[in-house]
Amino acid sequence: MTVEPLTSDERTRFDEQVVYPWEDVSVPTSEKTFLKSGDGIYVRDSAGNRLIDGPGGMWCVNVGHGRTEMAQAIADQAMTLGYVSPWSFGMDHTLRLTHRLAAYSPGDLNHVFYTTCGSTAVDSALRFMFFYNNCRGLRDKKQIIARTDGYHGSTFLGATCSGKDSDKLHMDMAEGLVHHVSNPKPLNRPEGMSIDAFCDLLVTELEEKILEIGPENVGAFIAEPVLASGGVIVPPPGYHQRTFDVCRKHDVLYISDEVVTAFGRLGSMFASEDIYGIVPDMITTAKGLTSGYVPMGAVFISDRLFDALRNLSADPTYFSNGFTYSGHPVAVAAANKNLDIMEHEHLLEHVRTVGPHFQARLAELAELDVVREVRGEGLMAAVELSLDPQNPDEARDSEFALAVDRISQENGLIVRPVYNSCVMSPPLIITVAQIDQLTHILQAAIEQASAEVGFG
Ligand SMILES: Cc1ncc(COP(=O)(O)O)c(C=O)c1O
Repeated sequence: MTVEPLTSDERTRFDEQVVYPWEDVSVPTSEKTFLKSGDGIYVRDSAGNRLIDGPGGMWCVNVGHGRTEMAQAIADQAMTLGYVSPWSFGMDHTLRLTHRLAAYSPGDLNHVFYTTCGSTAVDSALRFMFFYNNCRGLRDKKQIIARTDGYHGSTFLGATCSGKDSDKLHMDMAEGLVHHVSNPKPLNRPEGMSIDAFCDLLVTELEEKILEIGPENVGAFIAEPVLASGGVIVPPPGYHQRTFDVCRKHDVLYISDEVVTAFGRLGSMFASEDIYGIVPDMITTAKGLTSGYVPMGAVFISDRLFDALRNLSADPTYFSNGFTYSGHPVAVAAANKNLDIMEHEHLLEHVRTVGPHFQARLAELAELDVVREVRGEGLMAAVELSLDPQNPDEARDSEFALAVDRISQENGLIVRPVYNSCVMSPPLIITVAQIDQLTHILQAAIEQASAEVGFG
């Protein structure tokens, strides 16, 4: 589709009127690159430059840009019936999607509640926990435990669960409801401690936190399988199984926030069971569910919770939570087509094939003096930078990561700097040759940025 481009003057004036996510309101305009089209793993900016989409939009463009099948499915549904009220009506497409999703979801997580995005999925999962415990007569069992540096969205509840202090500076949170335990980042473990001992420490910390608050007051533990915007933190082996066991022991619901990891990012539809060996009580998803073509989220809830609720009372018991756009027909059509593409193109197998190459090529960057650590899983990775790895300084190193981002983009690659890490989650269709191209550009950018600050 051809859209008349704005003049640069119009762009500056109109841009001031947009309030962007995480907007710095002290400056009038952002310094954004404007994009105009996409194709496969590439996007094109307003000047016509072709760039590899390293972050895959924002961990979401799983099947790649410009898929005509996606566009056609969306258009067909919009033409046939563009809206259905989920309060009053059903649709066969929604049932088909739900049945497909439930077949992929771990264990008994066979109930699906549709939302509009990841934040509303997290919010709905937490509200379901409140509801579940209210129905059980456990009205005090509502406290939530989350992790430092986790990210769970921008609703009041999700933002309160998120664990970055810098995001809370000028914002209010739901006071007294959420408690944070440590980020399970192996690199930051106490000096001389083994990874296993670090895992012991984290598991003990969680259990002590539950005991300190009182198990009768703790409703849920929420955790991303791999912390995404916290910097692609892969926890120590056994962490998820052991924290899950602690939760079960104290009747605390385990909510796995798979907004990033579900739908193929790690080579499985869901990471919780296939990769980390747990069947949580609830899983929150969004992003890869529609590959970002239209907004949609979903919460998966276990039969166990539903059966418990059904056995409690024969009286009407409403889960009074829902959205005008829960199960929006156009989003349902996009999600069904997205699954078709994943299945027909064997994208899970593809990620399992190319993921190790992606990790291995990026791991080579650890040879560079300014690379503190390369970590990741599947098609999700972070290259953490430090100008002085023995004395990490987040502000200084974040500046450096911004320089790497700028140079990468000049050379045809978008990377997403998260503090001092370059974070990547390319479309799942990326090939081995494109992975080589991506790592080549990133390496050259790190070397050039190092030279600019007098390193190397
Ligand atoms: C793990 C996780 N949970 C929740 C969210 C919130 O999702 P959304 O931005 O779609 O509301 C995100 C967004 O990046 C996320 O990474």
